[in-house]
Formats: sequence, C-alpha cells, structure tokens
Amino acid sequence: MNSFYKNILLFIFIQAIAIAPLITSSSSEPTKGYDDNNNDNFSLRTTWHVHTVNDLSNGKILLVHCKSKDDDLGIHNLTVGVEFSWKFKLQIFGGTLFWCYMTYDNFHAAFNVFWVNEVFLHKCNYSDCIWIARDDGIYLRNIPNKYDEYRHDWEWGRLL
Ligand SMILES: *[C@@H]1O[C@H](CO)[C@@H](O)[C@H](O)[C@H]1NC(C)=O
Ligand SMILES: *[C@@H]1O[C@H](CO)[C@@H](O)[C@H](O)[C@H]1NC(C)=O
Ligand SMILES: *[C@@H]1O[C@H](CO)[C@@H](O)[C@H](O)[C@H]1NC(C)=O
Repeated sequence: MNSFYKNILLFIFIQAIAIAPLITSSSSEPTKGYDDNNNDNFSLRTTWHVHTVNDLSNGKILLVHCKSKDDDLGIHNLTVGVEFSWKFKLQIFGGTLFWCYMTYDNFHAAFNVFWVNEVFLHKCNYSDCIWIARDDGIYLRNIPNKYDEYRHDWEWGRLL
C-alpha cells in the first residue's frame, strides 16, 4: 500500500473517532437561564445546547424528531410551552451537525438546527441555539451579545 492510501485511511480513521458527539437530552420546561461559562466565542470545551420549543396556540402538539449522523434523538411530542433540548461538545475535526424534522397542523419541515458557522453560532450566543415553533413558522432566537454593534433585547429571525 503506498503512502497516499495510508494517509487517506488514517484520515478516515481519525474522522471516525472524532465525529461521534456526546449527547444528553431531555424534555422539560424551557430553560430560564444560561448558566454555562462560555465567555469568549467557542472552544472545544464549550457545551452547546440546542432547544426546540413549542410556542404554538390552542394546545397544539409539536412533533420533533432530531438526529445527527450518529445519533437519533427520538420522536418527541411536545405540548405547548414545553421544550426538547440536548447538549454536546464540538469535535476537533468538525462534522458536528444536527437536523430536525418538525410537524404540526399541516406544516412539515426538515432543517439543520446546528452547524459550525460563525454567523450561526453568534445567533446562539456561543451557547444555546433556540428553535421555536409558532403558528406561522419556525424561528431561531437571535441572541444579542457583546459582539453586536447594537443591541436588541430579543430579536427573532424567522427561518421557515
Ligand atoms: C449571552 O452570553 C453571555 C455570556 O457569554 C451572557 O452574559 C448573556 O446574558 C447572554 N445573552 C442572552 C440574551 O442570553
Ligand atoms: C469573537 O468573535 C468576534 C467577532 O466574530 C471577534 O471580534 C473576537 O475577537 C472573538 N473573540 C475571541 C476571544 O476570539
Ligand atoms: C407522537 O405523535 C405521533 C403522531 O401524532 C404518533 O404517531 C406517535 O406515536 C407519538 N409518539 C410518542 C412518543 O408519543
């Protein structure tokens, strides 16, 4: 085997051990505070949280089914005001990506909920990515933080 292929195999091996994120998840009332000490942007020590929240009207159920390449976080039927969230750390060789399928009423969507991109991570305040389902669509909470040129208390970006 020549060294070119040896290098490729080594690369694939490293990717394989690096990618599996450590995940713990829960269904609970929405988190009120942000208690992690993620002071400066992000590092491999940062614990990331993704939240999916039912903010629908009239007692509607939000079905949430999230996955990564390696993990299926299961199907969760959320009642109004309840969230499903999970946490994980980034991996050295990247590839940390989660996506969700959500449905309510006649609305269905499958979309990425976490990826490594500066603009996106900024919206997560380098800590918590908060996806909210409302009657008129899915929103990502855009958390203002110290790097913003001007601050808004809460800013919501409708994504879908
Ligand atoms: C964003 O994170 C900082 C800590 O890095 C925290 O002080 C601040 O309250 C957070 N902003 C929001 C809106 O949660
Ligand atoms: C964090 O990101 C901002 C803007 O992207 C940058 O100006 C700042 O230097 C970064 N801080 C650190 C500690 O990396
Ligand atoms: C969630 O709701 C769907 C559709 O309403 C149903 O098929 C499924 O069994 C429910 N799953 C759980 C875990 O309750």
